[in-house]
Amino acid sequence: MVKQHRRLQVKLSESLKPLIPSKDLIFGRHFTDHMLTIEWNSKDGWSDPIIQPFGKISLEPSAMVFHYSFECFEGLKAYKDKNGKLRLFRPDMNMKRLNRSAARLTLPVSIIWDVIGGFSEDELLECLKKLIRLEERWVPAERGFSLYIRPTLIGTQASLGIGPNSRALLFIICSPAGPYYKTGFSAVKLLSTFENVRAWPGGTGDAKIGGNYSPCVRPQIEAAEKGYQQNLWLFGPDDEITEVGTMNCFVLLDNEYGETELVTPPLDGTILAGVTRDSILQLARTWNEFKVSERKITMSEVVNALKQGRLREMFGSGTACIVTPIKIINYRGEDLAVPLDPNDPSSNAGPVTRRISDTLMGIQYGEIPHEWSVVL
Ligand code: COI
Repeated sequence: MVKQHRRLQVKLSESLKPLIPSKDLIFGRHFTDHMLTIEWNSKDGWSDPIIQPFGKISLEPSAMVFHYSFECFEGLKAYKDKNGKLRLFRPDMNMKRLNRSAARLTLPVSIIWDVIGGFSEDELLECLKKLIRLEERWVPAERGFSLYIRPTLIGTQASLGIGPNSRALLFIICSPAGPYYKTGFSAVKLLSTFENVRAWPGGTGDAKIGGNYSPCVRPQIEAAEKGYQQNLWLFGPDDEITEVGTMNCFVLLDNEYGETELVTPPLDGTILAGVTRDSILQLARTWNEFKVSERKITMSEVVNALKQGRLREMFGSGTACIVTPIKIINYRGEDLAVPLDPNDPSSNAGPVTRRISDTLMGIQYGEIPHEWSVVL
């Protein structure tokens, strides 16, 4: 295996941009001074990786990414701990998922790499780390702030014919970020969404591809117009809960056998295998204080639990927001109030939601020692 990261070329920007004060950060709107690019073609394989000044990419208008959405991406974050060290959170998981998404779109990360000396997950991660070290000054130090990293892979072959791309471009850009929602860690209101379906069996719901996200914007605007921040994506005749906005969904309830149970929908192909989702499941299983299940959960189970006083908490999880408590679900015209903290009516989140959020952030910022937090 060729060690591509050793062949990494660095072309530094001649003028560095001024940093954005943390209070002025809007998610995904500001970018650092450099980006990483790696080109691929089916004849020569991957080119040497280059870190170069952040700038425009030039492609033919016929590039297949523009016509058929040959695009997959990742989202992960770099954190600065209180000693000034840079940390990533489980970056190996993002590299693996990028490979899986690319394979779904016949883009070249995993599928061809053995044949033509391609790019391995470890090699890409080494390149990513070099980029983050170079962009260190952009990693905010305040808790709740981080550098959001966006690895992206696009099919760049100039062709209107549909087939696998013979050219591709992998790039990584970085964006200093504060809380995903302007409201910070505060509970959101959801609109149950039936007419539009985010993902379906046999579809691409488990791949992190741009084509899964753009069709969700119109339903999101419709929800916002009615006063709800996010869609609760339901599926099938029994209104199965799948995801919430761009997040995985968790429900904490006392089940009909009297057990306290944390439930999240299973990875059946319609759900994105979130890194935060997996981390929450592993943490909760380690705590061993309540049952933890990956199983189908329907709205009628949630409504029954609520009516019988058995629903405890609900929240969404994702890299961008980490954990977002849920306070209201509009379901078939009725606003259902999801309990927050029964012992603290002014609280914005239930105790388990808050504990999960605090633990994850503690690990991410290096306050709680854990192998998931990778020091650069
Ligand atoms: C995430 O939270 O990881 C997401 O996927 C949100 C992103 C699309 C902005």
